[in-house]
Amino acid sequence: MRSPQVQPAEGLPSRVRIYEVGVRDGLQNEKSIVPVDVKAEFVRRLESAGVETIETTSFVSPRWVPQLADAADLLADLGDSGRAPQRPVLVPNARGLDRALEAGVSSIAIFGSATETFAAKNLNSTLDGQFDMFGPVVDRAKAEGLWVRCYVSMCFGDPWEGDVAAEQVVAVSRRLMDLGCDELSIGDTIGVGTPGQMEAVLDGLVAAGIDLSSIAVHVHDTYGQALANTLTALRKGVSIVDSSAGGLGGCPYAKSATGNLATEDLVWMLHGLGIETGIDLEKLVATSMWMAEQLGRPSASAVVRALGARG
Ligand code: HMG
Ligand code: MG
Repeated sequence: MRSPQVQPAEGLPSRVRIYEVGVRDGLQNEKSIVPVDVKAEFVRRLESAGVETIETTSFVSPRWVPQLADAADLLADLGDSGRAPQRPVLVPNARGLDRALEAGVSSIAIFGSATETFAAKNLNSTLDGQFDMFGPVVDRAKAEGLWVRCYVSMCFGDPWEGDVAAEQVVAVSRRLMDLGCDELSIGDTIGVGTPGQMEAVLDGLVAAGIDLSSIAVHVHDTYGQALANTLTALRKGVSIVDSSAGGLGGCPYAKSATGNLATEDLVWMLHGLGIETGIDLEKLVATSMWMAEQLGRPSASAVVRALGARG
């Protein structure tokens, strides 16, 4: 299978930690519910392709996201692979944390909103109310020894409110990190951002005292800006990138959100730049082609389509 010609460039990290979200962000957005054994096989194949961190499912309300109502069954099916891969899960509230702890998770992610409207649509909360919901979750998770990530959604534009000021993103991020989270992921939920915005948000976060080593970027590719925004973030010193195998993804509570940056497209660029990921691209492409068959439609990833057709 073809691989990219390697030509390193200045000012980039030597290794990037890829935080795979296809199983959660991808499958939460499918019209049909993917059977639990297919989800488990997807996780296993991703792990065998060298993907180290896989956000596996969500302990959210099954009425809100029926696609992931099988969260506990999936974790039971996966068991312990014996090599302790990171398998974080989304948790919004105390009930979600109870369920996640019962399932034996070691890492969770809470998910806040930079805008008032999306806090209402996605969390049935106000912007301020989300901190009251997440605060006790983070306190208890840390007391139980869990690793905690926080997402901030709608950082680069909101389908209802339009433009989102970088200052607003920074203020929400600071408040979430102050709850005691270990990592922050900045979401372009509807994929509208451009590189200047990415720079402004990252500059703001750093000025607010958030260390670049704890910042991840989570970009959807709706307007084709995902790789450009990611490269901009890498040049600013970010080294954690969220992406989704095959470019699956979206948010059921933001209809204008389409797929995430495809992991294969990201890996092609990173390996071309001589940046380590630990991922075997050939195995990853095979995994996404297998998943595309399960879902009955071709992968959205340009690299999967190119390598799948030509090798
Ligand atoms: P609510 O309806 O206000 O909840 O939803 P509630 O606290 O009033 O509870 C109502 C009922 O739901 C109760 O049951 C609860 O027990 C139950 P009843 O007493 O009526 O029988 N319930 C639960 N059951 C199981 N697990 C739970 C749970 N919570 C309540 N965790 C809530 C509030 C936050 C729960 C709801 O809004 C919710 O689940 N939202 C999640 C939506 C979601 O998952 N969105 C997609 C993920 S975010 C995303 O994709 C963006 C991201 O990728 C980054 C980016 O792209 O920007 C992360
Ligand atoms: Mg997302």
